[in-house]
Amino acid sequence: MIGYHACPPPRLLNGSNRSVEETGESMAQTPQVQEEKLFIHNLVKRDPLAGLAEDVRRGLTTQPKRFLPKYFYDELGSQLFEAICLLPEYYLTRAENEILQRYADEIVSTVAGPTTLIEMGSGSASKTRLLIEALLRKQAELLFMPVDISATALENSSRILLQSYPRLNIEAYAADYFAALAELANEQRTHTLALFLGSNISNFDVDEALKFLRALRLVLNEGDALLLGADLKKDKAVLEAAYNDALGVTAAFNLNVLARINRELGGNFDLRAFAHRAVYNEEAGRVEIYIESCCEQTVSIRKLDLQVQFGEGEQIHTENSYKYDLEDIGKLAAQTGFTRAQTWQDQKQQFSSNLLLAV
Ligand code: TRP
Repeated sequence: MIGYHACPPPRLLNGSNRSVEETGESMAQTPQVQEEKLFIHNLVKRDPLAGLAEDVRRGLTTQPKRFLPKYFYDELGSQLFEAICLLPEYYLTRAENEILQRYADEIVSTVAGPTTLIEMGSGSASKTRLLIEALLRKQAELLFMPVDISATALENSSRILLQSYPRLNIEAYAADYFAALAELANEQRTHTLALFLGSNISNFDVDEALKFLRALRLVLNEGDALLLGADLKKDKAVLEAAYNDALGVTAAFNLNVLARINRELGGNFDLRAFAHRAVYNEEAGRVEIYIESCCEQTVSIRKLDLQVQFGEGEQIHTENSYKYDLEDIGKLAAQTGFTRAQTWQDQKQQFSSNLLLAV
């Protein structure tokens, strides 16, 4: 993501594979790599500030109020998410890393070679390295096709990967998921392993997850595979702690959306008058994340020419994080042209990496 400023030498921060927004990011100065090894298709067309303005207006004028999760990931938000991944309560990143450390060779051996590697929402691509290395143990060269909403994140992570792996070629898509999948579906490819890591799937509700997996299935041929990261249903206290850590990093990450609106849209949110809430809704199988108004108040957003009223305790919904059991994942697979062929778990069995075979 944005951990690339610490160079030379470039250093990858441990972290997620989340998409990041365009605004607020600056380019790192990384040494040149051979240009022909990197090609970036830029399909992001919408003016990012106009998109933010439109979505914030819509979200604050509907009931209940809500924001879109992608707006978490400005420069500070992306750094805060990297910090979340290091928190003792946020076990997800460590668990997935443990699985990939241990099983990367086994995972890549499930697809016939030579394999092309696609990753949706690659972000910093730090966990991806384990799979790239496993594939390069099996084959002489590798084509990596990362997709991310941020051209900057793609360029930075790609250059670092190309410096590490001389036998790698990268063809990247700066695009939202569906635009990139539409393009990728038109191309002929060798055997493909697709990655959707972290807890990326968890931010989709069921309908969106089905739509996403069906679009991804169209990119694959029979026998190709998707490695899908999914956090498992578990004890309410463990889940709520993962989304409401004692240090308050997650609270800062969540409330940063208000700071971003203040900064980019001329808002006057008083961050101390809002609180972070994370509740596990057991029936729905999801952690629901909100920003809650601590008192009755009115906020104005200058660039939107908008005044917004909040009642005491009124919430803005910012994200859902769905939790799964293996049966849920099997059902998702079966409804989208896949079969759940194999699942790997960390030792504590908190997280799952699922190999969905295209059938
Ligand atoms: N996709 C991540 C998850 O669901 C994002 C995330 C982690 C998150 N902590 C958060 C989103 C707190 C909002 C608030 O685990």
